[in-house]
Amino acid sequence: MHAFFRTSLLAWAATHLRPMPWKGERDPYKIWLSEIILQQTRVEQGLPYYEKFVAAYPTVTDLANAPEDELLKLWEGLGYYSRARNLHFTAKYIAGELGGHFPDSYENIRALKGVGDYTAAAIASFAYNLPHAVLDGNVYRVLARFFGIETPTDTPAAKKEFTLLANALLDDTQPGVFNQAMMDFGATLCTPKQPGCKACPLQTQCVAWQIGKVQELPLKSKTLVKKERFFCYAVFNAGPDVFVRKRAEKDIWRGLFEFPALEGLTISSLPEGPAALHQWLREQFFPDGHAPDFSVTHVSKPYRQTLTHRQVTAVFIEIDLPALLPENTSAAPPFAGTLRLPRTDLKKNIAVPRLIDWYLQEKAGTLSLF
Ligand code: ADE
Repeated sequence: MHAFFRTSLLAWAATHLRPMPWKGERDPYKIWLSEIILQQTRVEQGLPYYEKFVAAYPTVTDLANAPEDELLKLWEGLGYYSRARNLHFTAKYIAGELGGHFPDSYENIRALKGVGDYTAAAIASFAYNLPHAVLDGNVYRVLARFFGIETPTDTPAAKKEFTLLANALLDDTQPGVFNQAMMDFGATLCTPKQPGCKACPLQTQCVAWQIGKVQELPLKSKTLVKKERFFCYAVFNAGPDVFVRKRAEKDIWRGLFEFPALEGLTISSLPEGPAALHQWLREQFFPDGHAPDFSVTHVSKPYRQTLTHRQVTAVFIEIDLPALLPENTSAAPPFAGTLRLPRTDLKKNIAVPRLIDWYLQEKAGTLSLF
C-alpha cells in the first residue's frame, strides 16, 4: 500500500501541481516567508501578500531592518498578527546573530520563533531536500482516508502515528516534491467537503472509499468551542479628525490601531433609543462626569469575524465632538493615549484589524468620509 500510495501520488502531482511563485524556489528565506503567510491562510489569499513582501524585502536582512509598523501595514488583512511579529523577530535574529544566513538543518530551522514542526519540515524539504514529511490538516485528512485511520486527529497519539506514517511514505530521493504533492492533493482533490473521489487515482486502494467513510474521516475528539468577544467601538469625530489608539493588549490585534472601545460587554447591553444610548455612553466613556458636548450620529450594524479560537462582534458608534475640545479633555480617558488624525489618513499608514477595515470600506462606499 505504501508503494502504491507514493507512486500514484507522485504521478498525480506530475500533471496537477498548482503553479505558485514559490514552487521550485530554493531560497530558504522566501520559502519561510511563503509558509508563514500560508499558515491559517488560503493560497489565493496569501499569494498577493507573498509578492508584496518579496518585493519590499528581497532578503532576510531587508525584513529585519523594516520598521514594525510598516511590516504590520503590509500584513494588514491577513490576520493572526503574531505571525508577522514572529517573522520580524526571527528575521532580526537571523540578520543579527546568524550573519544573515538562514539555518540549514531541520533542528535549527525548527528552533526559530514562529516555526513549528510543519513549517520546519516544509522549509527543510523545499530548500535543502532534507527528508522530513509535512503534517498539516490536509495530510491528516489524506492519510486518515486512504489508510482508514480512526484515531482522532486532534490528539498527541495521532500526531505520533501520522508523523511516523507520513515519514514512512515520504520519497527520500525527492522529499520536497513529495511534500508539495501531498499539500496540493489534499488542498485540491482530497478536500474536506466534496472530494473528487471519482477522478482520484488512489481510489482503488482507498480504505475510506471502500467502506463508505470518506465523509466521516478524519475523526476529531472534540469540536472547538469559540470564545465570544464583543467590542463596542466609539468613533469620535472632531471636525475632520478621528481618534485611534494602538492596541497593546496581548489577547488579539496587538500593535494594530483601533477606536476607543468598551470591551467585556455583550451586544444586548447596548441601550435602545437615542436618549438612553447617549446617557449610557456618557457614563461608560466619561465616568468622572467631565464629558464634552457630543451627539450620536450613527450606530453601525454588527460586524462579525470568525477566528480560529474566537467569534468577534463589533459595533461602531459614531459620535460627533466639538472640533475644539475643552481644555484637558484629550488628556483623560477615553482620549488618553490616543492619536488624533484626519479621517482621510486612517487607511494610509496605520494597520487596522480586518473587522475595522470592513467597516471603513463600507463607510467609504456610502459617505466617502474615510
Ligand atoms: N500551504 C502551505 N504551504 C503550501 C505550499 N507550499 N503549497 C501549497 N499549499 C500550501
